[in-house]
Formats: sequence, structure tokens, C-alpha cells
Amino acid sequence: MTLLAIETSCDETAAAVLRDGQLLSSVVASQQEHLKWGGVVPELASRAHIIKIVPVVQQALNEANVDLNDIEGVAATYGPGLIGSLLVGLTFAKGLAMSRKVPFLGVNHLEGHLFSAMIEYPDLPMPFLALVVSGGHTILALVQDIGRYHILGETRDDAAGEAFDKVAKILDLPYPGGPSIEKLAREGNPEAVKFPVAKLKGNPYDFSFSGLKTAVLYYYNKLSDAEKKRQRADVAASFQKAVVRALSEKVALAVKKKNIRHVVVAGGVARNRRLADAISALAEKHDFEVYIPSLQYCTDNAAMIGKAADLFFRQGKSSPLNLPPRPNLTLTESSTD
Ligand code: KG4
Ligand code: ZN
Repeated sequence: MTLLAIETSCDETAAAVLRDGQLLSSVVASQQEHLKWGGVVPELASRAHIIKIVPVVQQALNEANVDLNDIEGVAATYGPGLIGSLLVGLTFAKGLAMSRKVPFLGVNHLEGHLFSAMIEYPDLPMPFLALVVSGGHTILALVQDIGRYHILGETRDDAAGEAFDKVAKILDLPYPGGPSIEKLAREGNPEAVKFPVAKLKGNPYDFSFSGLKTAVLYYYNKLSDAEKKRQRADVAASFQKAVVRALSEKVALAVKKKNIRHVVVAGGVARNRRLADAISALAEKHDFEVYIPSLQYCTDNAAMIGKAADLFFRQGKSSPLNLPPRPNLTLTESSTD
């Protein structure tokens, strides 16, 4: 089956073509409109999607060397995300499916991240443990099968990527914060400041990053301008270390308690080298396999939406053409419910 997949849940306009589960092309147009605002402006995002969707889809078809007549199914993200952004890709995909008379499938963006490692590891064995760490989500889940997930823990406040973005703002670094902090942290000493990792009551797999962000804010704002300049890289490195520790501690706990053999780390924060190194070190110690997608499949893209769609289409599933966008969709509400 030759599939066209579309992703417009936030600020990337993306399209991909897959044939029999194999990726033929993946195009991502990142919106530059938001840079000067230090974060995504929803109205600007939806307007940019409207302008970019046709050329992005056309480019994906060209790069895959197919035309619309070859497309046998169309998939698009229907949630979670920004309502105006979701509507652009979803409506476009439905219109295309209707006019071509091919099946349509709405994909849960989080399931896209969950299965993103399968783009490069198609035989990834299930069950696996997935750590999805992005700008909007921090989820530790057991993936028992396609459509069967058990959420072990989630963030109670900020997502890991959001913490990177907020701390970058405090340190006066450009958006998105993750890459800026990682770059600056290379020049800093991660042992310089001991930032706290939240100890939470209740579910041992839950995360919290707002206390850490506040600790950075208090620490940094007390410094003089000269100290800020001297210590900025140390603060970035120490903050990054605290996030990596918080994330890898929960993975270690789950691996020990749940007898896990395979671990996927996905989402924008999975691009972080320190996080990848920490999980790989755990893998050696506890004898499990780690699967982290290549950089371009960690951040938002349509290849992962296509991969998830392919798994569902294979099960004979599809979605009705009146499927509404779901800005607050959760992982356990499956795409084809
Ligand atoms: O998955 P994604 O593209 O979008 C969402 O679904 O949210 O993730 C974007 C997030 C941003 O918060 C960004 O700061 C973070 O991923 N990120 C990183 C790195 N690259 C991107 N965080 C830490 N280190 C990185 N190298
Ligand atoms: Zn995402």
C-alpha cells in the first residue's frame, strides 16, 4: 500500500510517502515565523500551514517519485495539538482521500512518536518501554501491542522539552531551547550547580520539572551581570544534567521492576546527546536494547505518522471522514476508536 501522511499539529508542516511500510520521502518545513516571539504563536502557525501544505505535499510526492494516482490511503494527525494547525492538515487529508476515493486515517500524534523508531527498526519487538519526551509531553509507557498502551507515568507540570524552552528563555538563549542549551552546555561544567531532581509522592514513575525550572530562575537571577556571563554555560550544563538524571532514573526503575528488554526514546528531547548517552549506559548495565530514531524522526515529522498509519491500515482500520480534530487527545484514546 502506498500512503501519504500529513502532520500539522504544531509548527512543522510535514508530509511523507510510504510504500508497504517503507519510507520513500519525508519533508518537514519548519516555520520561522515564531522565532522572534520566543515560542509558537498559534494563529501564525495555522496561517503558515495553509501556505505550505500544498508545496510540502507536492515535494513529498516528487521525492518519492509517485503522483496522486498512486496514493492508496491518506493519513493525518488529528490530535493532540493546536486546533487551528490540526485543522489544516486534517481537512486537507480528508479532502484528498474523498476526492481520490481512498481510505482516510486519523493518527494520534503521540502514537506517531511511539512508533517513530520503527521507521528505522521495522522489526522492533513488542512489548517495549517508551519514553516520549517532547515540547508538549513527557510520558513513560509500556507498549504491549499496536493500540495497547499502559501509561506508567507522566509529567505533573511542565514537559521536559518545555523545561528546556523555559530555561533557555531565562538564560536568554534562542527558541527552541533544547538545542541552544545542549550547545552551550558543552562549554559548561555539569557539576557546577546542584539543581534538585523532584522527589514526588505517589506514583514513582511520574515526572515534575517546574521546581527545577524555578530553581534555575532563582539561582540565575541572583547573579550579577558579570557572574551571569561567567556561569551561563555552567548553569545550562547543570540544568541539562538534572533533566537527564530525572528521565533516566525513571527508565531505570521501570526496567528493573517490569523486566524490560527493549526501550524506545522518542520526541524532540530524544535528540539530546547526553540523554542518549545516559540511556545507553543504563542499557549496558541492565542488559536491554535501546532504539532512538535519527534526529529528523525525533522532532515532529510526517514519517512517524505514516509509520503508525501503516500499522493501523494493515489491521484493516480507517477513520470516518467526519473525524474531528482533538486538541487534548491522550495516548490511551486510540486513533481508530
Ligand atoms: O517532538 P517535538 O518536535 O514537538 C512536540 O511534539 O512537542 O519536540 C520539540 C521539543 C522542544 O521543546 C525542544 O526544545 C526539544 O524538543 N528539543 C530538545 C533538543 N532538540 C529539541 N531538547 C533537548 N535537547 C535537544 N537537543
Ligand atoms: Zn511531537
